[in-house]
Amino acid sequence: MSTRFELIDEFRISSTVREQIRKLLQKSFPDFDFTETRTWLKQLPPRRLLVWEDGWLVAQMGIEHRVVRLPDGPATIMGIIDLCVEPEARGAGLASSMLKWLEELGRTYDVEFVVAFAVDGRLYERQGFRRPGSRLKWLKIDEFEGFGIGDEVLEELMVQELGERRWPDGPEATVDLLGYQF
Ligand SMILES: CC(C)(COP(=O)(O)OP(=O)(O)OC[C@H]1O[C@@H](n2cnc3c(N)ncnc32)[C@H](O)[C@@H]1OP(=O)(O)O)[C@@H](O)C(=O)NCCC(=O)NCCS
Repeated sequence: MSTRFELIDEFRISSTVREQIRKLLQKSFPDFDFTETRTWLKQLPPRRLLVWEDGWLVAQMGIEHRVVRLPDGPATIMGIIDLCVEPEARGAGLASSMLKWLEELGRTYDVEFVVAFAVDGRLYERQGFRRPGSRLKWLKIDEFEGFGIGDEVLEELMVQELGERRWPDGPEATVDLLGYQF
């Protein structure tokens, strides 16, 4: 079996592949209605990692690239959006190898942190992510409407440090996401 990782700009994705992504998201996130009509919840991701096995789409992950503000100044992050794997392909290490791939990409290009939001953190903890419990500010979006600035601790926040810089721990450190919570 041949496995191929493809990093693709969102605007280059054909309608055929977009439909394959939508179906994979629908299977993977059955509680979310957005997958009935589209491939993103709040905003288009700038790019995605697609994983193909013998021509079949078996996994996908949106990748955000952004500056956020930590208490000691701006920081570069990559964000993980809607990581999912075909049900039949799960449990074989595919999602872990996608996270490893992103970690190496980030290290190569001096990105400081990888950020994910997850209730179930097992997959991420294995890759060295931790929950800093920071207070976050972010642009709230619901069904194409920005409706305010969130300002609270989100326990779902998980962070992987790629370089020397440390992400601050605890609710007294406010981190501004400078955009929506992906
Ligand atoms: C989570 C998911 C991407 C893992 O893909 P995978 O290729 O099977 O992952 P790996 O084989 O690399 O690692 C498996 C480990 O992930 C962890 N895991 C399983 N389901 C998980 C979930 N929903 N969230 C977080 N971690 C999970 C477990 O620790 C599992 O190991 P175990 O079975 O020995 O306990 C896949 O189960 C999936 O697509 N789930 C539905 C969508 C989803 O919940 N995405 C995560 C959003 S944060």
